Amino acid sequence: MRDTVVAMQSSRIREVANAALKNPDVLAFWFGESDEVTPVAVREAAARSLERGETFYGHNLGLIELREALAHYMSDFHPGGYADRIAVTSSGVNALMLATQLLAGAGDEVVAVVPVWPNLTQQPTMMGAHVKRVGITPDADGVWRLDVQALIATITDNTKVVLVNSPNNPTGWTLNVGEQRALLEHCRRTGTWIVADEVYERMWFGTDRCAPSFLDIATAQDRLIVVHSFSKSFLMTGWRLGWMVVPEGGALAQIGKLIEFNTSCPPEFVQHGGLAALAMGNDFVDGLVQRLRVCRDLLLSRLQQLPGVTVAVPPGGLYAFLKIEGQRDSLALAKRLVSEHGLGLAPGIAFGPEGEGWLRWCFASRAPGRLSQGVDRLAQALKL
Ligand SMILES: Cc1ncc(COP(=O)(O)O)c(C=O)c1O
Repeated sequence: MRDTVVAMQSSRIREVANAALKNPDVLAFWFGESDEVTPVAVREAAARSLERGETFYGHNLGLIELREALAHYMSDFHPGGYADRIAVTSSGVNALMLATQLLAGAGDEVVAVVPVWPNLTQQPTMMGAHVKRVGITPDADGVWRLDVQALIATITDNTKVVLVNSPNNPTGWTLNVGEQRALLEHCRRTGTWIVADEVYERMWFGTDRCAPSFLDIATAQDRLIVVHSFSKSFLMTGWRLGWMVVPEGGALAQIGKLIEFNTSCPPEFVQHGGLAALAMGNDFVDGLVQRLRVCRDLLLSRLQQLPGVTVAVPPGGLYAFLKIEGQRDSLALAKRLVSEHGLGLAPGIAFGPEGEGWLRWCFASRAPGRLSQGVDRLAQALKL
């Protein structure tokens, strides 16, 4: 076995979830998904595909009609041409891995903006690359910010890839257009690729239809890969379906080869589910975001009333990221909350040392009352 793999940290969120196994009464907010099932139109489309007997290998890059539908979907949000720039992947995390395999080999330098969902930094580590972490930092009110000049100073001619997830899991921090421009212009000078994880772009509570995207400012020739997923916007976490947008030129052919050697293709019936999701139109996602906004506002207004709790309203994503005065060890705290109070949150340390002392609370729920109940349990734990 490779030492690099053996040395990798297993999931701290799973560690907390395991501490709850003996407690059936846990209110779990630790995973990044809603408790709403996938829309019926999507499930039926997949079932019909199976009934038709579509159980064979497919094209490495995905069904042509799904690629075309995705190109249309993308151009609706980010004007431009996406034909021959899209690969359908077996989840967002698979798309991230393919981008890493394409760009970062053993000994290569990768820069990542952190704290972040750990898969982003673990994948290049798995490949033997060296990951340099650039931290966003919280102010006294719990709003996280990037020192873009510090990020730029870290990216040199030796940097193969910069990884940015925005809106960010776990903090909700989101790059603004000025920061994106500064980063893109610098990466053009150093020849560095940007891998932008924009899976939460539609989970956006601002006035625009989605969060700022690198696709709005980049050309089709820029060294940019944008990663997307059906998981969050269409309630399809268990389906394992995503896509990636790559530059014009040879990148798509290389990704096709990598898909062949990883998974060969996404299952056809799952892709029919994806087609049905896109066919629901924007109303579905807009409705989902409205429901999420109710959840976010309810959770945040209650948390902000608790003395000793620091938490800012996130502009995007599915999470509140909070800090409790006097609590530094997030893993011990999360385990205590779950075993003694039946409240399941993710420890900030799961997202890197920059998240230590914080807790992540996923507010995507079809029953906002559960969130209130959870806050009651937190208040009880804090003896308020
Ligand atoms: C930041 C980020 N990127 C990518 C993903 C991957 O999503 P999936 O693999 O379900 O498509 C997640 C899932 O939680 C995520 O939080």
